[in-house]
Amino acid sequence: MSTRFMTVLGGLSVLAAMVIAHPTSLSQHCSNFPRPEIAGASVLSISSAELNNHTVAAFPPILNQDVVGINVCEVNVTLSHPNANDTVHVQIWLPASKSEWNGRLISLGGSAWAAGHGPLTLAPYAAKGFAAISTDAGLDGNLLSPAGWALKDDGMVNTELLTNFASRSVHEMVVAGKQLAASYYQKPAAFSYWEGCSTGGRQGLVAAQQYPGDFDGILAGAPAIYWTKYVVSELWPQVAMREAGYYPSACEFQAARTAAVAACDELDGVKDGVISDLAKCSFNPFSLVGKKINCNGNEVVLSKQLASVVDKIWQGPKTSSGSPLWYGLNIGAPLDSLAATLDANGTRVGDPFFVARDWVRYFVKADPEFAVQDIDSASLRNIFAESVAKFSDIIDSSSPDLAGFRRAGGKLLIWHGEADNLIFTQDSIRYRDDVQKHLGNGYDIDQFFRLFLAPGVDHCGLGSIDGAVPTNSLESLVNWVENGKAPQEIAAASLPTAASHFTRKLCQYPLVAKYDGKGDQTIAASYRCVRR
Ligand SMILES: *[C@@H]1O[C@H](CO)[C@@H](O)[C@H](O)[C@H]1NC(C)=O
Ligand SMILES: *[C@@H]1O[C@H](CO)[C@@H](O)[C@H](O)[C@H]1NC(C)=O
Ligand SMILES: *[C@@H]1O[C@H](CO)[C@@H](O)[C@H](O)[C@H]1NC(C)=O
Ligand SMILES: *[C@@H]1O[C@H](CO)[C@@H](O)[C@H](O)[C@H]1NC(C)=O
Repeated sequence: MSTRFMTVLGGLSVLAAMVIAHPTSLSQHCSNFPRPEIAGASVLSISSAELNNHTVAAFPPILNQDVVGINVCEVNVTLSHPNANDTVHVQIWLPASKSEWNGRLISLGGSAWAAGHGPLTLAPYAAKGFAAISTDAGLDGNLLSPAGWALKDDGMVNTELLTNFASRSVHEMVVAGKQLAASYYQKPAAFSYWEGCSTGGRQGLVAAQQYPGDFDGILAGAPAIYWTKYVVSELWPQVAMREAGYYPSACEFQAARTAAVAACDELDGVKDGVISDLAKCSFNPFSLVGKKINCNGNEVVLSKQLASVVDKIWQGPKTSSGSPLWYGLNIGAPLDSLAATLDANGTRVGDPFFVARDWVRYFVKADPEFAVQDIDSASLRNIFAESVAKFSDIIDSSSPDLAGFRRAGGKLLIWHGEADNLIFTQDSIRYRDDVQKHLGNGYDIDQFFRLFLAPGVDHCGLGSIDGAVPTNSLESLVNWVENGKAPQEIAAASLPTAASHFTRKLCQYPLVAKYDGKGDQTIAASYRCVRR
């Protein structure tokens, strides 16, 4: 045989050996995953299956559009903690082939009482090439109520499950996810991200504070930071109505909001139905008294009681000496989410926001029958103190110490609607201030933590009002983490459902977007980020 032929044969056998030894270099195998190792937890089971050309149907507002044509390897892991009697499910979707994977891992948060939403949040990210992770934290997944898990059989608060919800699961999902992705693709993920809004935003901050090595980038929308304080304060609008002896209709609240927006809209030089310069906006709700409005065909005269309720909601709850206990809603935020009412046989009564109502019932009072509707100013203050004393250590995610995260090179991007109707915008500003104070006033916090406020945007940009909602926040974070390009602006656009359509830029706090005085007011290019 010629040496040339021998060489070719040798080459082929080397090639064959490579194919046999590394079959996954050609295609990944969605089976036989080694069990991930998770300190402090035992893995009970692991299962996996390929999903080909898979569709996840829309489920607004968590998933607004169907996601079709998904090809992933789905892995489910169940785990448990000693003495917790819990079963935690972690689910990861790995883009089926290496070429479809963008090399990144993203962990996705939950909302309200749910730690995660499974396929509804995994689908859009897996479709974009992320290996995406979700967990139920061992809860029942019901975002509307903690009734299924809050209390143990003996009637005491299940602090193990609350701990899962608060913090533990945030870490464990990504510990598992990193191992599963590394095993599937035979190389570790290059970058690890967090994204979530509301509860999901809170979970992101937990990671930054307690698990600083887990994520390279954290995107937290409208984060539920000072949980034990702000959640109780969400009941204040109900207290204000009760103590005024007056429950305004949604129509009256809408009239008050509209008048305030009209008064402050043009302070930034642009009439767009959005208050963009809240600092300059002062609107006296008592100026409304005596005005006539049309509510569903009936003439209604705006009353002093309405004005007083609105004034109190904007001010927020007070201590017994009259100083602020917590924040109120910003002027321009829809009022009737927290000041909701319902019709009880012809009488309008208060309808407390479910997260606040159930936090007090199931956790602070450990009494599902507790009469939240009877809370007054004095009992609100007591419940506030009790909430903090009992649960701050477990769930507050408000530690200003981000030293570990900063040292690990992590980047934190928070955005918050300035007309948030559920979680006070001031909470995010306070947190940034707290972190700045902790680092010392000379420290340039923007090196690793940037806050973007979105004028006229409601809770998580769900769309009850008309401001421009961020459109490239994750891309901005990725560019910051991977290319060192820190975002000074984030692109934003009003939603299709908004009254008018425009694009804007959200500015790095404390800058605000200012109209250049000449360009098209409906496009972002006509605005610059300036000091207030
Ligand atoms: C993972 O869990 C979900 C929810 O229980 C289930 O629908 C799915 O079939 C499971 N997948 C695998 C691979 O076990
Ligand atoms: C994928 O599924 C859709 C229906 O959801 C179907 O119309 C399409 O033919 C499928 N594509 C392949 C390649 O199977
Ligand atoms: C463990 O949880 C199950 C329900 O998930 C419950 O029936 C059982 O009583 C619990 N056991 C203990 C010791 O709490
Ligand atoms: C309306 O009245 C009925 C009969 O008294 C009562 O059962 C029901 O709970 C009331 N509804 C509300 C919302 O209060």
